[in-house]
Amino acid sequence: MAEDEREQHRQSRLFTDDDGEFDAERAREESLPVEDGEVIDTDELADHQRYVEGRGIYDERNRVNDLTGKEWKYATKSVIAEGYPPALQHDLRSEHGGQKPPRLCAELIGRFSKTGDTVLDPFAGVGGTLFGASLCEHEGTGLREAIGFERNRRWVEIYETALERENEERRERGEPPLADQDMRHGDCADLIEGVPDDSVDLLLTDVPYWHMDELEQTRNERATRESKLGAFDAAAVPDEGEGDGEETPTDEGPTTEADAETGTGTKAEWLDDMAAKFERFTDAVAPDGHLVVFIGDMYREQSYEFLSADLARAIESTAPVTLAANLIWYDPTKDLHVYGYPFSFVPSMVHQNVLVFRPETDS
Ligand SMILES: C[S@@+](CC[C@H](N)C(=O)[O-])C[C@H]1O[C@@H](n2cnc3c(N)ncnc32)[C@H](O)[C@@H]1O
Repeated sequence: MAEDEREQHRQSRLFTDDDGEFDAERAREESLPVEDGEVIDTDELADHQRYVEGRGIYDERNRVNDLTGKEWKYATKSVIAEGYPPALQHDLRSEHGGQKPPRLCAELIGRFSKTGDTVLDPFAGVGGTLFGASLCEHEGTGLREAIGFERNRRWVEIYETALERENEERRERGEPPLADQDMRHGDCADLIEGVPDDSVDLLLTDVPYWHMDELEQTRNERATRESKLGAFDAAAVPDEGEGDGEETPTDEGPTTEADAETGTGTKAEWLDDMAAKFERFTDAVAPDGHLVVFIGDMYREQSYEFLSADLARAIESTAPVTLAANLIWYDPTKDLHVYGYPFSFVPSMVHQNVLVFRPETDS
């Protein structure tokens, strides 16, 4: 069919009133499926298309997620501009200074996996990814199975206690419980050996920074102090978001060379370590799966550390993956701090990078 014929055909399906205007009310009264102001003629859908009430048209050939075309359009936006208010026992989970909002994780899981898929987080912390996978059952398209590795027993215990408390509260509210996910205590380099090749559909993680773990808590406390002392308009900027107190290395890097070079080693060593780990992790990811990695950039020694770019290149240099996207998570509720004023421009970081990799295929 020629393009203009196709357009004519499309127009003839519009649900119009006498003036040729779209009559949404009439369409609603007759319970006709409507998308973008157009009534969907379900008889006209191709065999691979299915109309999903209130969500639009789903294409059965979709290998990436469970989203309809309309939802896909939104989900491919390169910026996620969303603050996530404290939730899911945030008070408990915030003992870990680098925890990610479970609802942000659920959003990413919804973009890069399907119901029933397996999600792996090899640096699971207090379980942002695991909570996200469970939330998908009640607030998304369906439950995902999640496996987490965490070498610090304290964070494993916090995940377990937070889940228990959350489910008690859900029971009191008459809501169904969040599924218990598979959190394993130990080093990811060992635990990955227990995950069969190609068995993971989505690897979603938030990497430990170089010397990051040891500094997380102290930086958190320092950032809180600075925000109280130094914000231009602290009253106007909410300080309650789950994003606040997040990954403070995005606000500032290690303050001295000694900070950076101690702990888990130099930046080059950290990149090598991450690259080697991701090379091994990729074996576990199915060929049509994804690897999605949170990484904040840093500012230190008067220079911007483009950690996201460095990490992307390091991973690509060893693991058989291709960088498909860099999504930006921008938290509009994040508190602003005063850095450099009035002599030097120092960015007040209100975003994190979310690197998206696809395994390379042989073809
Ligand atoms: C940035 S945090 C992840 C936070 C997580 N996204 C959350 O929501 O809680 C990175 C975590 O990786 C853990 N970690 C670092 N190296 C590890 C390793 N070799 N094996 C397992 N866990 C490791 C750290 O203890 C830390 O909790």
